[in-house]
Amino acid sequence: MMDSIIFTHKDQQYKTVFFETFGCQMNKLDAELSLGLLQEEGYRIVDKADEADVILFNTCSVRQHAEDKVYSHLGALKKLKKRHPEIIVGVLGCMAQKDGEAIFKRMPHVDLVCGTRMFSRLPELLLSIRNHGSHVLAIDEDQIVNVKRAVAYRANMYQAFITVMRGCDNFCSYCIVPYVRGREISRTIADVKEEAQALVSNGCKEVTLLGQNINSYGKGLSGNVTLGDLLSELNDLDGLERIRFVTSHPADMSRDLIRTMSRLGKVCEHLHMPAQSGSDQILQRMRRGYTAGYYCDLISYARELIPHIAVASDFIVGFPGETDEDFQETVQLMEDIRFQNCFIFKYSPRTGTKAAGLEDDVTDEVKRARNLKLLELQKGISLEENQKMIGKKVQVLVEGASKSDSNKLSGRTRQNHIVIFNGSADLVGRLIDVMIHEVTDLALYGKLENYP
Ligand code: SAH
Ligand code: SF4
Ligand code: F3S
Repeated sequence: MMDSIIFTHKDQQYKTVFFETFGCQMNKLDAELSLGLLQEEGYRIVDKADEADVILFNTCSVRQHAEDKVYSHLGALKKLKKRHPEIIVGVLGCMAQKDGEAIFKRMPHVDLVCGTRMFSRLPELLLSIRNHGSHVLAIDEDQIVNVKRAVAYRANMYQAFITVMRGCDNFCSYCIVPYVRGREISRTIADVKEEAQALVSNGCKEVTLLGQNINSYGKGLSGNVTLGDLLSELNDLDGLERIRFVTSHPADMSRDLIRTMSRLGKVCEHLHMPAQSGSDQILQRMRRGYTAGYYCDLISYARELIPHIAVASDFIVGFPGETDEDFQETVQLMEDIRFQNCFIFKYSPRTGTKAAGLEDDVTDEVKRARNLKLLELQKGISLEENQKMIGKKVQVLVEGASKSDSNKLSGRTRQNHIVIFNGSADLVGRLIDVMIHEVTDLALYGKLENYP
C-alpha cells in the first residue's frame, strides 16, 4: 500500500497539525518525535484543534479512565468533522494498538489508527489518506521504530528524553503495556550514544533514558550489554552534565547497577522504582517477582552506597482480593521507606490481562478511600523530607520560567526536586547553586548563591 503513494501538490494544503498526548513519558517522547517528522514535512503546529488540518491524539490504555478521556475528546470532534470533512482525525499510540479497527466502528469520523511501532511512518500515512480518501489502519507490531532524532521538536533545549528500549516482557498481571507496546527491543549503545551526542551538541545538559522496564536494557543485544554499560559510556560524554533513567523494576534492579550508579558522577541520585504494593500476597498475584522485604533491602543497599538518593514509587490500590490487612502493609511500606514522591492509582481491570480473570471485588468507594489515605500519607512525608532541605545549598539545572509564577525561575536538583527562585532569564540552561529557605510538599523555594 505504502509503495503506491504519490506526492502531489495537493498535500501542500494540509500543513497545520494539532497534537494532544495522553499517558507516560514514553508516549510524550513519541509525540515529540512524530511532531519533529511532521515539521520536517512542512507542517506547522497549532494549539487549537479547530485551526488544524490534521488532529492527532497520542493515546494511553493503562487505565480505563485514560481511554474514556480520548473517546470523549474524539466524540467532541464529530461536529467539526461534519462541517470540514477534509480534516484528518488520527488516533496514535497504545489505545490505537489495542483497539485497532474497533475505533473506526465506534468513531466513524476517525481517519487514521496508528499503533505504537508505526508512528515513524506518519507523514506517509497522512499522505495516503489524502490521496486515497480512505481510512488507514497501521498497527503492525513487528516494526522497528527508527526515527532520526535530529529532526525532533523539543520544548526544552537543555533537557531531553531518549528512548533506549521499547516494549516490556514482564507481564505484570494487571498491566496492558506488554500487549500494546510489544516485546522488549533495546537500541545499541552506539545508537543511543550518537543520539545523546547530537543532543549535547545542540545544547542539552541532562538526558533521561526511557524504558518501560529499563533494568533489562541490553537483553537481546550481542555481547552481554547492560544498562550499567550504557550509563558508563554516556558518563564519558563531554558537555553532558546529568543522566537519569526510568522506570526501574525491583526484580530486575541489580546491586551491580546500584554500585555503577554510585561510581558514575553524572548519574543522578534518583530512582523511580515502583513497589506497587506492600503485601507479599498481592505482589505475588500481581506477578511482580519480589517481596516487600526484598524491596526494602534493595533500597537500604542503595541508600548505603548513595546516601542522598531520592526514591519514587507507584502504587496500585484495590487490586482484586486486597484486604484491609494487605492495604495496611502498603501503608507500612510507605512509612518505612519514606519516598520522595509517589503516584497512586486505583486498580482498573484491563481486558486481556491475567488479572482481568480475577473478580474486581474491591468497591470503588474503598479504592477511593485507600487512594486518598496513601496520597495524604505521602504528602506529609514529602513535606517532612523537603523541610530537611531548608538551609541547604542545592545544584539546580535551570529549566525556564516557573509554571506557577512566571516572574520566577524553575529548575530541578539532581534528586529531582523542583526548585523555584528569583533570577534572570539568562540563567536558563545553566547549572547554578540555590540556597533553600522555604518548602512545600511539592517544591523547594530558594535564593541564588553567589549572585547579587
Ligand atoms: N513500566 C513501569 C510503569 C508502567 S505503567 C513499571 O513497571 O513500573 C505506570 C503505572 O501505572 C504502573 O507502575 C502502575 O502503578 C500503574 N498501572 C498499570 N496498570 C494498571 C492498572 N490496570 N490499574 C491501575 N494502575 C495501573
Ligand atoms: Fe507493566 Fe509490569 Fe511491564 Fe511495568 S514492568 S510496563 S507494570 S508489565
Ligand atoms: Fe499508557 Fe502506553 Fe505509556 S498504555 S502508560 S502510554 S506505554
